[in-house]
Amino acid sequence: MKQSYWIAPSILSADFFRLGEEIETVMEAGADIIHFDVMDNHYVPNLTIGPLVCKSITKNVSYPVDVHLMVEPVDALVPMFAEAGASYITFHPEASKHVDRTLQLIKSFGVKAGLVLNPATPLSCLDYVMERLDIIMLMSVNPGFGGQSFIPSTLAKLRQVRRLIDDSGLDIRLEVDGGVKADNIAEIADAGADTFVAGSAIFGKPDYKKVIEDMRSRLDSGI
Ligand code: DX5
Ligand code: ZN
Repeated sequence: MKQSYWIAPSILSADFFRLGEEIETVMEAGADIIHFDVMDNHYVPNLTIGPLVCKSITKNVSYPVDVHLMVEPVDALVPMFAEAGASYITFHPEASKHVDRTLQLIKSFGVKAGLVLNPATPLSCLDYVMERLDIIMLMSVNPGFGGQSFIPSTLAKLRQVRRLIDDSGLDIRLEVDGGVKADNIAEIADAGADTFVAGSAIFGKPDYKKVIEDMRSRLDSGI
């Protein structure tokens, strides 16, 4: 079951001095959901933003927020981000001792839940939990920083996950994160992704609308 395409700008590459304005501009430019990267200087080397910033977004605008937890452990932050208005919470299975429990915890708040697979994480981590997932995200870079290059082996992995989702008959989105740009988005969609995180490709450019329109036209035309 192929879903509609969503573009998810990662605010990691936004100008934090003008965060509210950046978010308004990118959503008005045609984005579908805000990608919110949480890094803890433990699971990944970088340190970013937390529930307070998430809440300051959801309190002021009604845009959905896709919270990507690059933190270890995971569970203590789940209620805080649920309370901060997250629409989706995704986490890395290596970072939780009890993956099924963490998925249940996210869903107990009525928040959509997902797993994030690093480039070297095998698909076997999806076994036995598919039914709890609303989204699967494949990292196409190693987590921790914006502006890295897309790892080509992600394409084959996307095809495998697309097949798993389709065979399951479940309603699960397939998201890709890292190095997504207008010039590779069609190829990534062809491999099965329906949700595209893009940080530096959008916030690094002077005209967000132009980039998002370019991405959409390439998604429509397949080139
Ligand atoms: C990396 C983050 C990404 C990052 C993507 O660990 O999860 O969301 O912001 O940035 P780009 O699109 O610049 O690769
Ligand atoms: Zn991310």
